[in-house]
Amino acid sequence: MKKWILKAVVQKTISYLPFSSRINYFFQKYITKGVFLSDEYFYGRLIHAREHLKGFSIYSNIDIPNSCLELGTGWYPVVPISFFLSGVKKTYSVDISFLTSKERIKKTIEKFVEAEERGLLIEYVPIKSENFEILVKLLKEYDSLSLEQILESINLIYLIEDARNLSLPDESIDLINSNNTFEHIYPEILTFIIKDFKRVCKKGGVMSHFIDMTDHFAHFDKSINIYNFLHYSDAQWKWIDNSIQPQSRLRIDDYKRIYESLDISISEQSYEEGQIEELKKIKLDKKYQNKPLGTIVISHCHFISKMKG
Ligand SMILES: C[S@@+](CC[C@H](N)C(=O)[O-])C[C@H]1O[C@@H](n2cnc3c(N)ncnc32)[C@H](O)[C@@H]1O
Repeated sequence: MKKWILKAVVQKTISYLPFSSRINYFFQKYITKGVFLSDEYFYGRLIHAREHLKGFSIYSNIDIPNSCLELGTGWYPVVPISFFLSGVKKTYSVDISFLTSKERIKKTIEKFVEAEERGLLIEYVPIKSENFEILVKLLKEYDSLSLEQILESINLIYLIEDARNLSLPDESIDLINSNNTFEHIYPEILTFIIKDFKRVCKKGGVMSHFIDMTDHFAHFDKSINIYNFLHYSDAQWKWIDNSIQPQSRLRIDDYKRIYESLDISISEQSYEEGQIEELKKIKLDKKYQNKPLGTIVISHCHFISKMKG
C-alpha cells in the first residue's frame, strides 16, 4: 500500500476518536515525523511574516500594525512572535482547537534566539531590541512561568472559537493573516470566515493570506505528485479526506470567486506557477476538466487586500 494511503486511513480513523487533534500530534511526532520545528518551516513562516508586514505597510501607509489576527496558527506560533518582535501590540490567534503548548512555544522562542545569534533574524523581520530582550528573559525564567504569563509577555491572545463568529468588535483589527490554512477549510465554511474577517478588519486595514493548493499527502509520500488529489471525484475524496487535516482542493479561481462574492478586492496577488508536466500526468476528475490547465496548475498563492474605507 502506498504511504499516503496508509496515512489517509490512519488520519481518517483518528478523526473519529475523542481528542483527535492530540492523538494526531503524537501520530505525526512519532510515526510520520511531521511535527518537528524544522528550519524549513521556521524560515518559511518568517518569510510569510515579512510579506504580511510589507503588505500592511504598503497598503495602509502605517509601518507596523497595532493589532493582528492570525487564523489557524498551528503548533508553533512563528508568525505571532515575529509580529511581537516587530512591535505589534496585540496578536489574536484564532482556531477551533488549541494546538500549541508551553513546550512548543518554548521551542519556537529558542529558534528565534538561535536565529538572532546567527545574525539571520534581521533579514526577515524588523526587530525591536527591547522585545527581543523580553524573549531572552522569558527563556531564562521559562519553567517558573505559567502559559498565561508567557502569552501575555509576547502580546499573544488565543481565541479558541469558530472564526465564522469571532468574539471581536467590528473594525478592531489592523492586519488579518493566515498561512497555509485556507486550503484546509471547505468553501461553505471559509466564505463565512472571510465574511467575519471583513467585519472585524478596520477600514483601510489589510488582509494577507498564503494558500498552499498542493496535495499535502505528496509532502509526505514522494511517489505521488502535488496534483494527485485532483484525480478523485468529490464522492471518492470524501472517503479519503479527513477532518483532522481536510483538503478542499480549491484552485486559485475558486478563492477569487469567494472574494468577489464578498466584495473584497485583491489589491495584490502573487503565485507559484506549479509544474505543468506533473499536472499532465494526472487524469483529472471531470469537476476540473472545464478549468484551464493554466489555472489548475498554480500551486501556491498569496492575496493581499486593502479593506475598503
Ligand atoms: C492545518 S491548520 C493550519 C496550519 C498552520 N497555519 C501551519 O502553518 O502549520 C488549519 C487550522 O484551521 C483551523 N480551522 C478550521 N476551521 C476553522 C474555523 N471555522 N474556525 C477557526 N479555526 C478553524 C483548524 O482547527 C486547523 O488548526
